[in-house]
Amino acid sequence: TEAVEVDVSSLTPGMSLFVSWHGQPVVVRNRTEKEMMDSQAVNLADLNDPIARNANLPAAAPATDANRATPGKEAWMVMVQVCTHSGCIPLGQQGDFGGWLCPCHGSQYDTAGRIRKGPAPENMAIPVYQFVSDTKIRIG
Ligand code: FES
Repeated sequence: TEAVEVDVSSLTPGMSLFVSWHGQPVVVRNRTEKEMMDSQAVNLADLNDPIARNANLPAAAPATDANRATPGKEAWMVMVQVCTHSGCIPLGQQGDFGGWLCPCHGSQYDTAGRIRKGPAPENMAIPVYQFVSDTKIRIG
């Protein structure tokens, strides 16, 4: 599968950009301090899906905030922005958890893209990616 390189140098905290990767919409978000803190404060027992769903980690890795990001770049979310219920595109920075809200059947995700409410069964997927420099991410 072909990798995509993304220049993220223009993203200050609170900004997102979108890239198409293998026909899937991937969001790259530089989270705010508050978004990170809100997510880090979540008790894992309160998660609907306790698995990280991060292709860079072992399949059973727990869905901590850190495991939804990458070491040293904890502010950044790189995520397939597709609802795990029926594949709609959730809207960002909306809903009770300040993360993503799916307009189709109301699934709500937190600021780490973890499903918190509604019919979606899984956290949104984290693709294989890495920071190849401070300003560039390779997805795939
Ligand atoms: Fe998102 Fe149904 S497709 S809630």
